[in-house]
Amino acid sequence: MGPIHAAIIGAGSIHGCHADPILQHPQARLYALVDTDVDKGRALAEKYNCRFYADYRDLLADAEVDVVHICTPHHLHREMIIAALAAGKHVFSEKPVVMNGSELAQIQAAVERADTQLAVCYQNRLNPTSQRIRQTIQSGTLGNMLSIKACLTWHRHGAYYNQSPWRGRWATEGGSLLINQAIHTLDLMQWFAGGVQRIKGVVETSLLESLIETEDSAMATMEFTNGARGIFYATNCYTTDSPLALEIHFERGFLQLERNTLWQVVDEQRTALVNDELPHGNVKRYWGDSHRQAINDFYAAILDPTQYGGADIHDAAVSLRMVNALYQSSAQRRWIDLPR
Ligand SMILES: NC(=O)c1ccc[n+]([C@@H]2O[C@H](COP(=O)([O-])OP(=O)(O)OC[C@H]3O[C@@H](n4cnc5c(N)ncnc54)[C@H](O)[C@@H]3O)[C@@H](O)[C@H]2O)c1
Repeated sequence: MGPIHAAIIGAGSIHGCHADPILQHPQARLYALVDTDVDKGRALAEKYNCRFYADYRDLLADAEVDVVHICTPHHLHREMIIAALAAGKHVFSEKPVVMNGSELAQIQAAVERADTQLAVCYQNRLNPTSQRIRQTIQSGTLGNMLSIKACLTWHRHGAYYNQSPWRGRWATEGGSLLINQAIHTLDLMQWFAGGVQRIKGVVETSLLESLIETEDSAMATMEFTNGARGIFYATNCYTTDSPLALEIHFERGFLQLERNTLWQVVDEQRTALVNDELPHGNVKRYWGDSHRQAINDFYAAILDPTQYGGADIHDAAVSLRMVNALYQSSAQRRWIDLPR
């Protein structure tokens, strides 16, 4: 196989996190960019020295394309992923893979039919701190897990919603804080615990009420499959984008993720274990620096399908179900069971 010919659909805020790793990949080439904003798309394609398409269906008809990166608004993911898989392309999709359970079932069916692979971008699983948390849990050195608490306090404002009007709308974003920002946190919690059994929570719109019809804050309690408890709070109403604060309580100590450093606390002794690398340049620091690793892992799997250990549709389904269960729980004020 020659170089992997990659294309990015959607040249908005996140596209640079995909373009840079593709441009720097020794076995890949950024072949094309797609955006309905023709002026922006053409200018970027010129910068990257790649082709430009205004309609993603023309891109999918191009036999030279091996893999497409979906970086578009949430309501477009379903049709684009299904069409790309049907056209025989590998797909690397931004989260959330889709917006709800019925769309998820359609994607699962499309994956079953496809000869190509779908990966979903849960890059924070690849952060050094996340990897170290998993290793510590699997080693059993701290004993059984008792609970996880996670607190995500970010800042989203008028300009963020005005620049991309698909945000803040149920029909096009499918929610806001939970499905867009905190889905990474919910994914990490369930991934660390090894699955979630049931969840109860409240979502609300407080400070951003005049701007968005979706939620800006949420809290939840959850029970994991391993018997541990999860405590979760997230908001887009803070005044800055604080790094995720997370604590895991075990029988013999704690792990604490604090300002991108992972600490272990045993018998009141606090030891720093590892720091996350923070990105430079145009990438927002609080997004983390692991898109590159996620893309490299997926490309390794395209070159050798036995290689991939990253997030697939089954992984992506769990946090999406948690998000939707929280919307349902809040509306019905009850616990929601999640499928195993
Ligand atoms: N993994 C992360 O940490 C992370 C961070 C930010 C955003 N995201 C995800 O990335 C995706 C895009 O978000 P964003 O913030 O970059 O959005 P954005 O609004 O900044 O960009 C979306 C782009 O898609 C283009 N577009 C719209 N309709 C199109 C169509 N039919 N065909 C081609 N292009 C089209 C728009 O013109 C725009 O350039 C979302 O799924 C979001 O959740 C992920």
